[in-house]
Amino acid sequence: MASRLLLICGSVRAGSSNAAVLRTAGLLAPDDVAVSSYDELAELPHFNPDDDGEHLPAAVARLRHQLGEADALLFSTPEYAGALPGSLKNLLDWSVGGGEMSGKPVGWINCAWGGPTRAAGAYAELRTVLTYTDSVIVEPACVQVPVTRAEIGPDGLVTDPAARDRLAAAVAALVTAGQAS
Ligand SMILES: Cc1cc2nc3c(=O)[nH]c(=O)nc-3n(C[C@H](O)[C@H](O)[C@H](O)COP(=O)(O)O)c2cc1C
Repeated sequence: MASRLLLICGSVRAGSSNAAVLRTAGLLAPDDVAVSSYDELAELPHFNPDDDGEHLPAAVARLRHQLGEADALLFSTPEYAGALPGSLKNLLDWSVGGGEMSGKPVGWINCAWGGPTRAAGAYAELRTVLTYTDSVIVEPACVQVPVTRAEIGPDGLVTDPAARDRLAAAVAALVTAGQAS
């Protein structure tokens, strides 16, 4: 079963909406799922194939260890300039060579509530890049749950009950897919 869920946020901003959505989703995971968050996105060096060998940069080794420990991965990311944030693309570039994501169920929460396309460009790119990691995209765990900043409480959690229900359903779908794999 997918007992270890890793949350990966594409925003390094303090007070990030995407981080709040992931935090909430993690709390809504079934009791038997151990949830952890990747929190070193800003520390990763720029991807360099020359460094992708035996002596990995320490932050990259820690990333790969966390990916390797996880049974399922849940992403949430803002869109910047119509695309994935460079920092998250950088993480994914480092992830391809390690192979830790291979065969693992992945999903995402798109919480964009405004803009002309609601971050469609970022999530189209995420889908493309994930195929290079050989992970398994779990469609019912790839959902749009728009959340405004006003819908995030002082505790940093999403307050809207309908949004929380949809987050819980996405996590449940991801966990179930992990149990089946
Ligand atoms: C430089 C910059 C570029 C942005 N470009 C887009 C964009 O192309 N599409 C979009 O929907 N939002 C865009 N946004 C808005 C962010 O995606 C939005 O503020 C998001 O909520 C930030 O996520 P966070 O709260 O998790 O940091 C942009 C914001 C900044 C600062």
